[in-house]
Amino acid sequence: MKSKKLRIAVVGLGEQMCDNLFVPISISQYTKIVAICDVSQKALDAFEHKFGVFQQYTSYEVMIATENIDVIVISSYPDIHYAVAKHAMQNGIHVFIEKPPTRNLEQLNDLVGIAAAQGIKTGVGMNFSYTDSHEILKNVICNADFGALSFVLIEHISSKPKEPLWNLDSTIESFLLAQLIHPLDYILSIGGKYKTLDVHFSKNDYPLVLQIMIEFENGIIGCLKSGSYYPRFRHQVEMISDQGNTVRIDDLANIEITTGNNAIAPFDLKAKQCVTVYTPSPLKSGYSKAGYETELNIFFEHVLHDTPYEHALTDMIKVYEAMEDIQKGMDYKSSRLKTEVEHSTLL
Ligand SMILES: NC(=O)c1ccc[n+]([C@@H]2O[C@H](COP(=O)([O-])OP(=O)(O)OC[C@H]3O[C@@H](n4cnc5c(N)ncnc54)[C@H](O)[C@@H]3O)[C@@H](O)[C@H]2O)c1
Repeated sequence: MKSKKLRIAVVGLGEQMCDNLFVPISISQYTKIVAICDVSQKALDAFEHKFGVFQQYTSYEVMIATENIDVIVISSYPDIHYAVAKHAMQNGIHVFIEKPPTRNLEQLNDLVGIAAAQGIKTGVGMNFSYTDSHEILKNVICNADFGALSFVLIEHISSKPKEPLWNLDSTIESFLLAQLIHPLDYILSIGGKYKTLDVHFSKNDYPLVLQIMIEFENGIIGCLKSGSYYPRFRHQVEMISDQGNTVRIDDLANIEITTGNNAIAPFDLKAKQCVTVYTPSPLKSGYSKAGYETELNIFFEHVLHDTPYEHALTDMIKVYEAMEDIQKGMDYKSSRLKTEVEHSTLL
C-alpha cells in the first residue's frame, strides 16, 4: 500500500525558502506541495519562475481557509512566524517554523500552549543539530573510549546583523535571535541545565564581539564565542573529554580527532604525532551537509508516525530563557559601565 503523503503549504518565499528549504521539502518521500504563499506577488512570481507552478496565495488566512493542508512550513520574520503558526495551529495544522520561531518568550509560550491544547506537532528549524558532521561527532563523543565530555567550545561568527532586523528594538536583540540562537541551542542540547552563565562583550552593537562562559550542572564547561565582526560566516566546534581526547569540526566539514592514547593511534604512529582527520567528499552537496534535509525529514516522520523530533517549540523554551539571561547580563554590565564612566567624568 502506498504510504500517505503530507499535504504541505509553504509561507515566506524569501532567500531561506528558495536556497535551503524548498528543495528538501519538495523531494522528500513524505510530502506533496499543495500551495505557496507570500505577501509579495514579486516573490511568488520569482518562485514560480524557479520552481514551477503551484497554487499561489498572498494571504495565509485565505490559503488556510481554502486548502486542505497537513503541514505549513514558515520562513519569514519572527512576528509573522508567530501569527501564521498561531492561525495554522488553531485550524488543526502542524507547523515547521524557521528560527527564530518567535520574537520573545511570551509569544513562544503562547504557541506552546496552543500546540498542547490542539494536539499539534511543531518543529523549529535548528539545522546545526542535523548536519552530517554532527552525526559523526555524536558517535565520537558517545564512544566510551573518548571519555566523559568536560569542555565544549563553539565559535559561531558572522558579519551581521549590522542594524535591527524584523522591526525588533535593537541590533543586540536581532543578533541574539538571528545568530546566537544557533550555537546557544546547540550547547544547551549538549550540556543540559546550567548553573551559571557569564557574558562578556564589546562596547559597540556592531561589530559585536561576545563571549559567554557556561557552567553546566553536570560539570561540563561551555564557551561560546560569537559576534558580527567577521567578513564571512565561520563555525567551529571543539569538544574535550576528561581523558584529554579532543574532537574539532571546522565549518561543518573537516573533523579532526586528537588523542594522547597510544592504543588508539594507527599504523604504529606515536599518539603525539597522530591526528585523525575526516574530510567529506568535495562533491558532497549542501542540503544534508547543512542539516536542512535531515531536520525536515525527521520532522515529517514525526508528524506521520509520532517518532521523536528534538526541536519542538517546547524545546525552545530553555533557549529563549537563556537568551533572556544573556540580555539581562548585557544590560546590567552596560549600565554598570555607563555609571562607572559617568562617575569617572565627575572626578
Ligand atoms: N537556519 C538557517 O541557517 C537560516 C539561514 C538564513 C535565514 N534563516 C531564517 O529564515 C527566515 C527567513 O529569512 P530570509 O532571509 O529568507 O528572509 P527574506 O526577507 O528573504 O524572506 C522573508 C519572506 O517573507 C515574506 N513575508 C513577509 N510577511 C509575510 C506574510 N504576512 N505572509 C507571507 N509572507 C510574508 C516576505 O515577502 C519575504 O519574501 C528568517 O527567520 C531567518 O532567520 C535561517
